[in-house]
Amino acid sequence: MCQKNKKTFYITTPIYYPSGKFHIGTAYTTIATDVMARYKRLRGYDVRFLTGLDEHGQKIEEKAKEAGKPPKVYVDEMAEMAKALWKRLDITHDDFIQTTEVRHQQLMANIFSKFVENGDIYKGEYEGLYCTPCESYYTESQLMKGMCPDCNRAVNRVKEASYFFNMKKYANRLIQYYEAHPDFISPGFRMNEMMNNFLKPGLEDLSVSRMTFDWGVKVPNDPKHVIYVWVDALTNYITALGYGSDDDALFNRYWPADVHVVGKDIVRFHTIYWPIFLMALDLPLPKQVFAHGFFTVNGEKMSKSKGNVLDPDMLSNQYGVDAVRYALLRDLPFGQDGDFSSKAFVERINFDLANDLGNLLNRTVSMVNKYFKGIVPLYAGCVTAFDGELEQFIAETVQKVELNFEKMQFSLILSDIWALVSRTNKYIDETAPWILAKEVENEAQLAAVMRHLVESLRQIAILIGPFMPTTTHQMFEQLGIKNEASQTWASLNQYETLPEATTVIKKGIPIFPRLEIEDEVAYIQAQMSKDADFVEQVDKEVVEKGEDAPTIGIEDFTKIQLKVGQIKACVQHPKADRLLVSQVDLGDETRQIVSGIADHYEPVELIGKKVVVVTNLKPVKLRGELSEGMVLAASADGKLSLPELIDEMPNGSVVK
Ligand code: MSP
Repeated sequence: MCQKNKKTFYITTPIYYPSGKFHIGTAYTTIATDVMARYKRLRGYDVRFLTGLDEHGQKIEEKAKEAGKPPKVYVDEMAEMAKALWKRLDITHDDFIQTTEVRHQQLMANIFSKFVENGDIYKGEYEGLYCTPCESYYTESQLMKGMCPDCNRAVNRVKEASYFFNMKKYANRLIQYYEAHPDFISPGFRMNEMMNNFLKPGLEDLSVSRMTFDWGVKVPNDPKHVIYVWVDALTNYITALGYGSDDDALFNRYWPADVHVVGKDIVRFHTIYWPIFLMALDLPLPKQVFAHGFFTVNGEKMSKSKGNVLDPDMLSNQYGVDAVRYALLRDLPFGQDGDFSSKAFVERINFDLANDLGNLLNRTVSMVNKYFKGIVPLYAGCVTAFDGELEQFIAETVQKVELNFEKMQFSLILSDIWALVSRTNKYIDETAPWILAKEVENEAQLAAVMRHLVESLRQIAILIGPFMPTTTHQMFEQLGIKNEASQTWASLNQYETLPEATTVIKKGIPIFPRLEIEDEVAYIQAQMSKDADFVEQVDKEVVEKGEDAPTIGIEDFTKIQLKVGQIKACVQHPKADRLLVSQVDLGDETRQIVSGIADHYEPVELIGKKVVVVTNLKPVKLRGELSEGMVLAASADGKLSLPELIDEMPNGSVVK
């Protein structure tokens, strides 16, 4: 086929910080992207799938130092680790970029120079509150009583030379772009967040250089400055295609990207900074940025300290890659937050994979062996009363699956495919082949049933291909399907692609083992890692305003009762370093409340303080101490502050 006429599809994952081993969250982004890339290949697209590592910056510099290695040696080792994991998870990327590669650094620095030449970047002064021992800038509101929130020393107001990108210049153009391209950001609610939280209030110019560390690409002609990591990182999507180089054939072929898949924590960078950089380069914008949600593990945020970090390698070794790929995308609607529970995971393997799909395959293979000596009967149209209905169900499933692939709704796709698996199992009950087999005159009907079962399984195998490539292959093998024409997406809904002598294997082998649920849940629990090697980002919070919270109606809000209280007494929790136990006067009653604020406040400084209390929370015991409510506090970047209240509000006043 002539390459030029093929439709192209360029899809990317974020490039990951190589600050440790990758956990299941990173694998989630990559698997989802891989599923999409595989699907588009099956649909005949000329696909380019890019992933890689974001290797510059202070954090990586420190990690390398901790490991006692030069940064480049450290990141190259991490790149090998990442590539091995992606291989293990059957990821089919076409390119793997490292931002420390010469091919990227050179082109990225050229892009920076172009911004400067065009007047989009100017040199100015960055003004902030600086703590010298901590080598960090803080904003006024981050200070604790005017002191450094980390070391409690005095901070100085300092000015430092910095390069700035003129974001303001492009803000209106970006707003117009959003309005003209409602599908630019998916799910749509993320576009509203960006518009309302960042674009409408007005963009600030962005500081795009740093002088506080060395590990990065130097600003051209001003080597005291290092280019800001996000300029470095985002441009990877075009430097990997050779943009601005002598060989920009890939760039011409694949840009603009069809979709950048990202997690919700980095939407702002991809939908505000990145499009503006592209506008400044006079390049078309990506067609879509798709932001997926985060998942918790067994109801809790993954965290090294909690020891609930899930290792994708461990899960794949124990349960097979396909089970992991399936389970990660099965329950959680792509774009929403959700939970990965070990019990639900094991149940999915047992019920969906071993029972529903595995048994269907097994029963079919053994019936074709038993009734037709292993040879799949020829297709003779719809013979039994149920054949037409099954064919119709298959056609509808294919249609729904294709539609939902365009929306990247992986959980819906899988639930539709499993509805077909169930429908096919029901078809066995409806047609009762064991009864048909009793009478010779029913042979044509029995043949039609066997053929429909094989066909349904063949089509299921194709449909699950992007998610579970190994299973697809095993199913083809057991069904004796060797010819390519019967394995393509284009052969869906076709019933006469199988050669006459198609022979199923002699004895079906279960494609998924049945598991003892409790044993496996305990196994996964025991394997959850407190491993210090896991990436830092498991502890990373989403800081963007409102990004985490779904919209609620006033009726939801009024369920929460908030009151002004005053802390009358406060002591350290006897058994937990991080907790304080306070007696809070709520006007007509005094309640004991336990709060996780001991890292930020001494008990004595809280006595007499007015606080906002959630008063209608169910009482709980925290490490043995009764807590009858919750004190509200603001937190960001590991810092915490109680809201200041006007002192004359009487205790017990309602807050709303
Ligand atoms: N280096 C930047 C991206 C630059 S792209 C030009 C970065 N890297 S990261 O390693 O911190 O995160 C990579 C991806 O993993 C993000 O898309 C992030 O959302 C995703 N996840 C990290 N933890 C996750 C979960 N617990 N759940 C789902 N995805 C998660 O940001």
